[in-house]
Amino acid sequence: MQLYLGIETSCDDTSCAIYSPEKGIIAYKTASQLDHAKYGGVVPEIASRTHMKTLLPLYETVMEEAGVGLGDLAGIGVTNGPGLTGSLLVGLSFAKAIAYGSGVPLTGIHHIEGHILANAIDQPMDTPAVVLVVSGGHTQLFNVERPGSYELLGGTRDDAAGEAFDKIGKILGLPYPGGPSIERAAREGDAKAYKFPRAMRDSGECDFSFSGLKTAVRLKVEELDDLSTQTVADVAASAQEAIVDALAIKSVMAVERISATRFYIAGGVAANGRLREVMTERIGDEGAEVSWPPIKYCTDNAAMIACAAWHHLSAGRSDGLDLNTFPRGELRSWA
Ligand code: KG4
Ligand code: ZN
Repeated sequence: MQLYLGIETSCDDTSCAIYSPEKGIIAYKTASQLDHAKYGGVVPEIASRTHMKTLLPLYETVMEEAGVGLGDLAGIGVTNGPGLTGSLLVGLSFAKAIAYGSGVPLTGIHHIEGHILANAIDQPMDTPAVVLVVSGGHTQLFNVERPGSYELLGGTRDDAAGEAFDKIGKILGLPYPGGPSIERAAREGDAKAYKFPRAMRDSGECDFSFSGLKTAVRLKVEELDDLSTQTVADVAASAQEAIVDALAIKSVMAVERISATRFYIAGGVAANGRLREVMTERIGDEGAEVSWPPIKYCTDNAAMIACAAWHHLSAGRSDGLDLNTFPRGELRSWA
């Protein structure tokens, strides 16, 4: 059985996983850094220091759970960007050290490719497909011809969708991260209570903009004297609807543009139930089938990186020990 180790430390989650193309995920563990909640966002120095403490024991637990040693691995995949440099360096240095010590091939994975291929962990991806990547740092639509072939159809001009959720959560005084908090609050709210903008609706491009929405919510909250639980729920539900609607409008446009019959959602925001519901309905109306990864593989995780490592290494794509991190950069095709 071929086994691939994945390592992900690009932001504040430390994660290791072992993937087999025959059996799927054999062992998987993610440690979330709860310290950041009290600062209302990720503090890079705390993130990298915590990765340093957490990664080795986490790796040992995952290897033990899988009952394997380094010599049993067919490859090692590590996220080398985009992300926080200090955090990325902890994962990359660790991956290089064990690759050097064992002679197991190493491959660097673009974090966004990882999110896309989270859809290929449990079954092969049905391609060509349109993939909407919605995370804390990215909001992009891709035409994925096959794993390794990525054509960017559009992206955000300013904030990412997850960032909008997080910033609006902060304005409403909800716990960090804002995405899950807003989804929870919105369940008790009226999505029609407030009218928030859907920017770039008529731009004719598959592009997004969320900074105007954030400002509109801030101004509305300043105008409301009393922020009762019900008001927070109504603002949360209305803001969530605006984000989801904006994502749906451009996703439908992308599906129409390339006559896609398959549509996937990826990234942390793909965990949002309302987004899944609306996409299933609106993309379904276009005649395309919609799916997303299991929730644990939507937010940052190493399972997607281990799966991507298999795609790279089985296509003969490995990296040397000169592999470096990169803080930002577009996803490029390799197949
Ligand atoms: O993919 P991810 O774990 O990290 C990045 O690569 O950025 O995504 C994190 C983002 C955060 O902005 C978080 O608020 C958002 O995903 N998120 C959600 C939900 N769960 C996580 N947004 C909306 N609804 C959710 N249920
Ligand atoms: Zn991510």
